[in-house]
Amino acid sequence: MTEAILLVGGKGTRLRPLTVNTPKPMVPAAGVPFLTHQLARARAAGIDHIVLATSYLAEVFEPYFGDGSALGLRLEYVTEREPLGTGGAIRNAASRLAAGPDDPVVVFNGDILTGLDIRALIAAHGTSGADISLHLTKVADPRAYGLVPTDPTGRVTAFLEKPQTPEEIVTDQINAGAYVFRRSVIDTIPAGRPVSVERETFPGLLSSGAHLQGMVDSTYWLDLGTPAAFVRGSADLVLGRVPSPAVPGRCGDRLVLPTAQVASDAKLSGGTVIGHGARVGAGARITGSTVLSGAVIAPGTVITDSMIGARARIGARTTLRDTVVGDDARVGADNELRDGARVWCGAALPAGALRFSPDR
Ligand code: GTP
Repeated sequence: MTEAILLVGGKGTRLRPLTVNTPKPMVPAAGVPFLTHQLARARAAGIDHIVLATSYLAEVFEPYFGDGSALGLRLEYVTEREPLGTGGAIRNAASRLAAGPDDPVVVFNGDILTGLDIRALIAAHGTSGADISLHLTKVADPRAYGLVPTDPTGRVTAFLEKPQTPEEIVTDQINAGAYVFRRSVIDTIPAGRPVSVERETFPGLLSSGAHLQGMVDSTYWLDLGTPAAFVRGSADLVLGRVPSPAVPGRCGDRLVLPTAQVASDAKLSGGTVIGHGARVGAGARITGSTVLSGAVIAPGTVITDSMIGARARIGARTTLRDTVVGDDARVGADNELRDGARVWCGAALPAGALRFSPDR
């Protein structure tokens, strides 16, 4: 039996307004709450007991996933009274583990979409005998991340804060948000107070001589923390660029869930998802976007790389690019929104209110 802790308690501030009513791991990606993909991938890798470490909007997880048996898992839920940060959450959730002191415990951030070979990470952990093994990924522009350099054997040599100058970019490897801990190491994290595993636990263990081992790979990896990344991740799941056993349908250019109504001449492409009960009008063109359940897209709209919240309404001929529209919002006809615009949940934008073009 392999056990895991999934961190799903963050506030998801960067993803607002999608996370106003819904915690980030429950926002739908490729037609199901994103967490479903992570649970299904963990199960496929032989993990059978998962503790969900919840905090923000904690009450929504258990009614949806229950005891986990539908996914072939045993799921437990641990809720923090006050958010404990990533390290505090791991320590707190570990009370539910059956693992012995030397057994491996897998830990996942709840907002990473990756093709990581989880079995390989667990196997590498066993072979190296490390205290903690970390999945590392290489990014083209590491400036926004903490860097994790390793020696030629893969052993972690430092945890560096976000680099400020070119000289500080000593590696393109970053923490990819999946770890294997030796159980006894989790028990050394202080209990009952907020702890950041990235900023406190890992650097502290390293300076005290612990063995932290990195596993670098070049598989698909995306942090779904921002609306643009979330929409990209959902589209990539639909397109089959990253495999998930939980995509509800065949991979391809589009995913239209049962009970959605799409006009016969509407064009859906680039991994677009149309949710349950949503309606798409005549001549609409929707590319690389997610339309959540019950949303209504009027005729002639053009939607690209955007997310439309549940029950939101988009008026005729409106164009949206790189935009997120919150649940129950109304965007009137003939608007143009782009470049990271966020329409808040329940907000109403009158017809023709916002344009980037000089005409209406
Ligand atoms: P932002 O507010 O947009 O930065 O997102 P976030 O709150 O999710 O923070 P971040 O992306 O740094 O979190 C990484 C992972 O840890 C996510 O899966 C979060 O759900 C989780 N997480 C962050 N803080 C906590 C916490 O205090 N408790 C628990 N249980 N999980 C947390």
